[in-house]
Amino acid sequence: MKILTVIGARPQFIKAAAVSRAIKKSKNIKEIIVHTGQHFDKNMSDIFFEEMSIPRPDFNLEINSLSHGAMTGRMLEGLEKIIMDEKPDFVLVYGDTNSTIAGALAAKKLHTKVAHVEAGLRSFNMDMPEEINRILTDRISDILFCPTDTAVKNLKNEGFDNFPSKIIKNGDVMYDAALFYKTKARKPEVNLPSKFILATVHRQENTDNINRLQNIFKALETISGETTVVLPIHPRTRKKLESANITPANIMLIDPVGYLEMIWLITHSELIMTDSGGLQKEAFFFEKPCITLRDETEWVELVDNGFNILAGADYDKIIASYRNFLENKPVFNIELYGKGNASEIIVETLLMQ
Ligand code: UD1
Ligand code: UDP
Repeated sequence: MKILTVIGARPQFIKAAAVSRAIKKSKNIKEIIVHTGQHFDKNMSDIFFEEMSIPRPDFNLEINSLSHGAMTGRMLEGLEKIIMDEKPDFVLVYGDTNSTIAGALAAKKLHTKVAHVEAGLRSFNMDMPEEINRILTDRISDILFCPTDTAVKNLKNEGFDNFPSKIIKNGDVMYDAALFYKTKARKPEVNLPSKFILATVHRQENTDNINRLQNIFKALETISGETTVVLPIHPRTRKKLESANITPANIMLIDPVGYLEMIWLITHSELIMTDSGGLQKEAFFFEKPCITLRDETEWVELVDNGFNILAGADYDKIIASYRNFLENKPVFNIELYGKGNASEIIVETLLMQ
């Protein structure tokens, strides 16, 4: 069996690392990896392939830094050519980025089967590019690998039982990755305080709205006055802070780090504050409370169980959530994202087709 994996953005490298390990073990699958080039800085892309032993991409389309339409369109064209040449049995796509929808659409139009990992997630916010990408990808996928019960329920509510696609709840491949790489965690080469809060901010809804960006950074500045906030900064956010003249003097901004350093930072932090999807779950995997800097989340089970508070970009809410977690530490005593074998289930399922 031949599988063509399409990845392009940081979280997809981490997810694909887990699945590629399972594919390699199975021996009966040949995996071709296409990197769309969406993320391209060394510490947004190469570092993951180097540190995590992900097979090197067979193709790199080098498409990035464009508007949504231009980026997705060019990816579609490049991917179509590769799929026509390689004739895979399945195209495997992850998550909700422009690389995801481009991979799924290019494949489906060529009548190539599509498997979507992280299917069924919804924020119900159609202003998010990710929500559009994931809804459309789900609808044209043949196999929908859902990480949670909520994801399965979302698909059923949208009538997916009436479609010919297969819905499989396999758990979260990010949990597989966290379990495997945690023993390899490495301290980043920067001087860190003994006690710190880890933060990331990169979502378009926050970076492209000056009010939200200002409120979030004002709150992080205040908190950093008490416990240093360490923030590995996404290039998108660095650019936006510069153009908005926001200079977060108190916050410790560092360059983006690789996944092994990131695990070190997570496990040594007091608390996580983020608008990232992946990091909300990693906070849970490593038993850290999380404040989400968004108005909604796809990972509702974290909020329902008190591990995560949705604070949006509201200064007062962010500060109140921080104080709440200082006083009330959640007890992490349930399993929400499978058993760490989500990647194996994907491989077994594909081999049965
Ligand atoms: C993308 C995904 C988002 C995901 C995120 C993971 C879409 C629509 N969004 O957002 O869902 O959460 O990846 O991090 O696909 N840039 C660099 N160097 C890089 C990467 C990006 O300078 O290595 C710059 C680009 O030039 C661009 C900006 O950051 O100006 C945004 O990059 P883009 O890939 O469009 O979106 P992300 O915000 O990274
Ligand atoms: N991450 C990383 N280095 C960083 C910031 C994040 O390795 O400097 C990891 C993070 O631990 C998680 C993934 O990247 O596994 C999440 O990526 P991101 O926040 O960019 O995207 P999202 O999950 O929101 O789509």
